[in-house]
Amino acid sequence: MNDDSTIQPERDALLLALEKKAAERYIPIIKPQVGQFLQVLIKIKKPGRILEVGTAIGYSTIWMARSAGPAVEIVSIEINEERAAEARENFRSGRVEEQINLKIGDAREIISFLRRKFDLVLLDGAKGQYLDYLEPVLEILSPGGVIVADNVLYHGEVLDQQRVKHKRRTMVNHLREYLRVVANHPLLESSIIPIGDGIALSVRR
Ligand SMILES: C[S@@+](CC[C@H](N)C(=O)[O-])C[C@H]1O[C@@H](n2cnc3c(N)ncnc32)[C@H](O)[C@@H]1O
Repeated sequence: MNDDSTIQPERDALLLALEKKAAERYIPIIKPQVGQFLQVLIKIKKPGRILEVGTAIGYSTIWMARSAGPAVEIVSIEINEERAAEARENFRSGRVEEQINLKIGDAREIISFLRRKFDLVLLDGAKGQYLDYLEPVLEILSPGGVIVADNVLYHGEVLDQQRVKHKRRTMVNHLREYLRVVANHPLLESSIIPIGDGIALSVRR
């Protein structure tokens, strides 16, 4: 059972090409297992609208768009213009461009301008900013809506003080604080799932 191929989700040529590009250019993207998790979650939850913070080159967005189907709008926010342009190309290659509303800018500002409700939110922007995204996201998260935050265990460093590299201490502390807040938030029930780099799954009461 240690053979990776038995537990790796199936991906098509586009997703595999994006994984390769991201690895070559050190662009962090969700692990395929997290893509698969989002796919299962989307099938169960059937969100009407999805918000993503941190598009990068569109890998996770394509996983979600395909899982949700063409009737579901995805608003995805990316601060880096070049990455956003590349994501747009990739959406075209994946034939999902029609359903994705890509917004370029700082999610900390853009989220507060969004007026419609979202049923599923993927937080995958700057790891030190998750708490900045949380309160504005709660304003637009529908009751029963779900927040998935990626990388919350950060190579195991979040749960193990001894392993934290000095240069990452502030970011790791921010992730710990995010986990503490979502675990105790009056509007949320949360669970940490150790797949990929760790995700926090929270549901709005
Ligand atoms: C981990 S990558 C996203 C990966 C993508 N979700 C995937 O799995 O394919 C994080 C991205 O968030 C973007 N980002 C960082 N801070 C941001 C902010 N305040 N607003 C919007 N995007 C941001 C970065 O430029 C980077 O491309």
